Amino acid sequence: MEPSLVRPVSPINYDLEFEPDFDKFKFRGKEKILIKVPRPTRQIIMHSAELEIQDCTVLWNEKKIRAKVRLDEKKEELVLNLPEKISGRAVLLINFVGTLNDKLVGFYRSKYEYKGKEKHLATTQFEAADARRAFPCWDEPEDKATFDVSLIVDSNLTALSNMPVVSKKRLGKKTSFRFDTTPVMSTYLLYLAVGEFEFLQGKLGKTLVRIVTTQGKKEQGKMALLFTKQFLAYFQKYFKIPYPLPKLDMIAIPDFASGAMENWGAITFRETVLLYDPKTSSTDTMQHIAEVIAHELAHQWFGNLVTMKWWNDLWLNESFATFMATKAVDKIYPEWDFWDQFLISEMTGGMSLDSLKSSHPIDVDVKSPAEVRQIFDEISYNKGGSVLMMLENFIGPDNFQRGMHSYLKKHEYSNATTEDLWNSLGAASRKPVRQLMNTWVRQIGYPIVEAKAIDSKIKLSQKRFLLENDGKSRQGNWIIPVSIRMEDKVVTKMMRGSVTVPYTSRWFKVNDGQKGFYRVRYDENALDNLGRLVEEKKISNLDRWSIHHDLTALVISNQYQLKHYLDFVRHYEEEDDYVVLSDIIGFLNFLYVLLSGEKFWDEIKEFNQYFMNVIFRRIGWDKVKGEKPTYALLRSSLIGSLAKLDDKEIVEEAKSRFSNTLRSGLLNPDLRSAVYSTVAWDGNPGTYQQMVGLYRKASTQEEKIRFLGSLSNFKEERLLAKTLAFALSREVRTQNLFMPVARMVANPYGKELVWPWIKKNWKGLVKKFGVGNPLLNRIIGSVSVMADLEKEKEVRSFFVKHHVPGTEMKLAQSLERIRIHAKFLKNARKEFGQ
Ligand code: BES
Ligand code: ZN
Repeated sequence: MEPSLVRPVSPINYDLEFEPDFDKFKFRGKEKILIKVPRPTRQIIMHSAELEIQDCTVLWNEKKIRAKVRLDEKKEELVLNLPEKISGRAVLLINFVGTLNDKLVGFYRSKYEYKGKEKHLATTQFEAADARRAFPCWDEPEDKATFDVSLIVDSNLTALSNMPVVSKKRLGKKTSFRFDTTPVMSTYLLYLAVGEFEFLQGKLGKTLVRIVTTQGKKEQGKMALLFTKQFLAYFQKYFKIPYPLPKLDMIAIPDFASGAMENWGAITFRETVLLYDPKTSSTDTMQHIAEVIAHELAHQWFGNLVTMKWWNDLWLNESFATFMATKAVDKIYPEWDFWDQFLISEMTGGMSLDSLKSSHPIDVDVKSPAEVRQIFDEISYNKGGSVLMMLENFIGPDNFQRGMHSYLKKHEYSNATTEDLWNSLGAASRKPVRQLMNTWVRQIGYPIVEAKAIDSKIKLSQKRFLLENDGKSRQGNWIIPVSIRMEDKVVTKMMRGSVTVPYTSRWFKVNDGQKGFYRVRYDENALDNLGRLVEEKKISNLDRWSIHHDLTALVISNQYQLKHYLDFVRHYEEEDDYVVLSDIIGFLNFLYVLLSGEKFWDEIKEFNQYFMNVIFRRIGWDKVKGEKPTYALLRSSLIGSLAKLDDKEIVEEAKSRFSNTLRSGLLNPDLRSAVYSTVAWDGNPGTYQQMVGLYRKASTQEEKIRFLGSLSNFKEERLLAKTLAFALSREVRTQNLFMPVARMVANPYGKELVWPWIKKNWKGLVKKFGVGNPLLNRIIGSVSVMADLEKEKEVRSFFVKHHVPGTEMKLAQSLERIRIHAKFLKNARKEFGQ
């Protein structure tokens, strides 16, 4: 699947007709492809998978030529052999039959209930390489073409595609919808849907915007409609390029593998990421909806209008969408502090994965579809997004915006590479963008900057940061735009190797505002100073986050004692900022789960309880007028964490609020998740049955997921085992299967149950998801929670025997994490005298 340098045959236009059959879960397809054949050939090779080809002819030179077809299932290729050579322009005619599968890729079916009746709809998910499961095509981003789609459907159904309908024809009991010609675009962005849909409409300028749902849900699309109009307007203004299509559909699909997909003009979403119910939806959900909508809208330019040449540059799509989403949301909703939250949502995950030897460079060599699927990860999204933030900070937002505009204009309706982007941003800023960025994009890993104050100088040096610390130091080769805050002055330098600056103040902090993708290690004295500043809040919340975040990485890699950390974190007792506290709570919870079962667990537990209580006392159960919106997120995470620490007051209050709710139906949506989980934590078999009942009855997917998560928060092993079995039942959508598993490994009483469960059910899991489904990797990732070298061996040898293509990276990363945890645990035991 690597892009071939010479493209012997390429498509110009696809005329596609599909007729889905919901009784047999099949579809019939017919295509007419106008192709360009630059050099005479007797053979045409295209992509095709899981399709039955019925016949294939070529129209050339006013002749009708029958092609002999051969399918190569492994390579997912269709080889057409012709009795004579053709060249110039020709038309391919192919008839085929495919399956409306239930694997959430290609042309697939989704099931839901309406008024007690089981219903199906058909929808597509083609990125990265699954258009070939719906029709034979050249299924690579560089093979752009125009598309004319027709869908023949039962007359009670509606059909959707990227473009508006141009004609509707009655054909007996069926209706044929014909859609307008698309712009030139890649196959992975094509979209088809058939079902009973409902629409909530609006307009932005001349663009028709519609929120599309299954029946009875369109009212829950109001918030999404507002967001879509706001962010679409923002992007048109920011890019200075209008959205080019006449309509934009935002479609909520009940079964959906990822969160959302940017099909041009027909964006698809999980229901929980598009639908908002003012009575039951949380602040968290609302903010997430905004972020995902902004992300997918950014792709309409970055990805759809200009597409990466090949998947090695996937980051061009995903990092930009990630970065631009934060920009857009922050502009419209500044009170949500999205740039602060960026540290939690992007920087954290990016740094975490990139601290592993088994990470990969942002620009990564990928060939097969299985390899491509694996790089939709924290490197392509979160590290990429973070280095863009660093770059924008370096060249300035105006240069950045001008550079982006010229990049998009220059490559519109075409493809581009990372180099092309550096050219545009370099020209716009007259700064050495390529030089700087290549050290971040082409190299694996990121640096830790060692900061030492000696006499009247600050000396900075760099090496690669790794969690699996083997004592060897590796010289770093990054060009780092370092910034050093010395009281109210900030010194910036381009650091290659090392750098020395005059020390002219009483204290210093490196990486001002955490704009750079690197960590810092301070000498003892400097760190003491910072502790004091944290306490007095003399430095910004971002800097307070930064100091804590870097310190935790040193703790896990055994470069800073756990006990010292627990002393240091007390500087944060007066902390009131959400992102800072979120990092602390996250780390304390991590310790609590990892160290459970140790003799000194109680010490950790007591400390966590003490610390979190100090914070919670200031926050309280109920919203205070005028508080920041992020406090809703903080409150929920504190309650959930304190409950798991067996905090009696929290547990009692949660229980009483829960029983009130059962009577009144009223409970602040922001508290629901934490309250349900707490009730489960303190629950018994009776509570369990009650939760399952509530899960079944819940009317939105958001509410269902809250109950589903809670089922993993019981203490009794027998109940937790039931939850794992329940996760595999028909009652839990495949798309949600990973959720109870992820919650189980965050439960000290559940974490041991997951690996045996995976082993026992591996075959079934693979079958359920289908080979190569990224949802399978989420399950594999859950083994990372273990901290035992014997287990590491066991996992390794199990997957040698039961290898599944597309899981290689995640597996290597999870094994590395187990080893890191094991080493950390060994050290912690020593420290606590075990
Ligand atoms: N292009 C992706 C969807 C996708 C992911 C397709 C993986 C194929 C494989 C989409 O733009 C996306 O990034 N979706 C995210 C949501 C986003 C807000 C981070 C997702 O699905 O998680
Ligand atoms: Zn994306």
